[in-house]
Amino acid sequence: MNRKMQNSHLAPHRQTPMAIAEMLDASGAAQTRLFDEAREVRDTYFGRSAVVRGVIEITDVCVKSCLYCPMRVENRYKRYSQNAGDVLEAAESVYQAGVGVVALQGGETPASTRLSLRLIPKIREVFAGNVEVLLCLGNKDRVELKELKQAGADSYILKQETSDPELHLEMCGEDLDTRVACAKDLIDLGFRTGVGAIVGLPGQSRASLVRDAILPGELGAQMMSASPFIPAANSPLAGSPMGDLNLTLNLMAVMRLLNPRALIPAVSALEKPQSGGQALGFKAGANVITINFTPERDRSKYAIYGADRFVVRREHALATLEKAGIEPLFGREAFAFWHRPANLNVGA
Ligand code: 5AD
Repeated sequence: MNRKMQNSHLAPHRQTPMAIAEMLDASGAAQTRLFDEAREVRDTYFGRSAVVRGVIEITDVCVKSCLYCPMRVENRYKRYSQNAGDVLEAAESVYQAGVGVVALQGGETPASTRLSLRLIPKIREVFAGNVEVLLCLGNKDRVELKELKQAGADSYILKQETSDPELHLEMCGEDLDTRVACAKDLIDLGFRTGVGAIVGLPGQSRASLVRDAILPGELGAQMMSASPFIPAANSPLAGSPMGDLNLTLNLMAVMRLLNPRALIPAVSALEKPQSGGQALGFKAGANVITINFTPERDRSKYAIYGADRFVVRREHALATLEKAGIEPLFGREAFAFWHRPANLNVGA
């Protein structure tokens, strides 16, 4: 059903690994054509609009040891977890800003399940039920995921980071299969599910990026992202080169062509290789932007991208959308599109 709904816009001969690899390499006029097509598909299936999300970072405690990430467990620094009251206060400010999607983001830790189970019903109350609760909390077992769903979570983002099994194991110290199995559980349990790739990890092959383009559709994911690799201070990859912005944008455009109805964010990390990078994301077919609502006093305590990560504020998000000629979808509008009739499929 989901897969049918998201039928690729591309003719079969343009979905082959070779054709996708060629699109990933597009530059100059070929890239302009790729982006034009991606935007046309977005506008046809979704409109010239973007979902606005609000993210609240709830903890930087993490049990994983991903080589690219400053939150990795080996890093000995004072970890920080929000208390429920502070998260609810932040949720209140998301509500006041008119934003209809609340994302709770945190490192991978069992404790985030308990905290979220307490928070989700209260967040729903703040919004009188008119909210999409999105979680980004890493791998969890099926029983926990089911509890979170029953508590009122709607959606979940679990990036595969890289779909290359060997590179995944090297980067994340965990089997790709484990990660993908968790994503399958999410889909199975009825979460609207997001996956995503980091572009430019050291040792990443073109062939695996082709896999990253195909994987979301294969899984039936409704959300997907591509993010440039940012060499983070305090990580073993601090000295590696930054991911290529154009390659990242090309992957976003290919994801759009393969998944016309998907939610594809212009992630904050796009601003790191180039200021204005998020606006380019919308040129490549994105339709989501996320504003950071972590209380100001706590923000500096989070290490997700290190101290120099790009934090998206409301003004920046709205200016980016305006520059790209995109209308922001607030409140109910932001999640009501999930319930739009599937026969919107013009040209399918
Ligand atoms: N570059 C890009 N993305 C990163 N993440 C963490 N570190 C980096 C980095 N250096 C992303 C990962 C992870 C999320 C918490 O942040 O995709 O899932």
